[in-house]
Amino acid sequence: MTNNKKIKMLTYSAMMTAFIIVLGFFPAIPLGFIPVPIVLQNMGIMMSGELLGSKYGTASVFSFLFLVLLGVPVLTGGAGGAAHFLGPTGGYLIAWLFVPLLIGFFLEKRSARLSNPWWFELSVVIIAGALFVDVIGSFWLSWQTHLPILTSLSSNLVFIPGDLIKAILSVIIIRRLRKSLRLDGTDR
Ligand code: BTN
Repeated sequence: MTNNKKIKMLTYSAMMTAFIIVLGFFPAIPLGFIPVPIVLQNMGIMMSGELLGSKYGTASVFSFLFLVLLGVPVLTGGAGGAAHFLGPTGGYLIAWLFVPLLIGFFLEKRSARLSNPWWFELSVVIIAGALFVDVIGSFWLSWQTHLPILTSLSSNLVFIPGDLIKAILSVIIIRRLRKSLRLDGTDR
């Protein structure tokens, strides 16, 4: 990869971090029965892996989580701080870091200039960007709140409809953006 391409990808990576922060301005929807809200920021996490691939996508999510760790109020509702990684939502945050790695891994399997069919991309985003996060988050939630694991897993089903909508939106948006930015597999 040329230096110009590297600079371009690092710039997109920084812009994606900013976009994830902006999604945090959308208010969370609290749920009475578990201490985990419905948020929009996880759509930005899915998008980072789809658009930027495993390396630059992980860089963008890592930068975002590093700001959280430093206490910068970039999480939904202006929250931040290391304590979030140990609280009930810590499992989701930790899982977020691996989302671009997983999405990138599956999407990058195809030869660099061929694009993945939409149904394949959507399946990868649903499995690696939504289900994976919800399962890891459920286990962590169970550990932190002493909820039985099955209760924790079943209560997380509430996120599935919203997370599916976010996955669909992210595939529609990123497939268009990829074309207009002329990004293909050679940019990863
Ligand atoms: C935080 O702001 O501390 C993290 C919130 C994590 C919320 C998770 S992400 C996956 C699932 N889908 C949602 O809309 N909410 C949960």
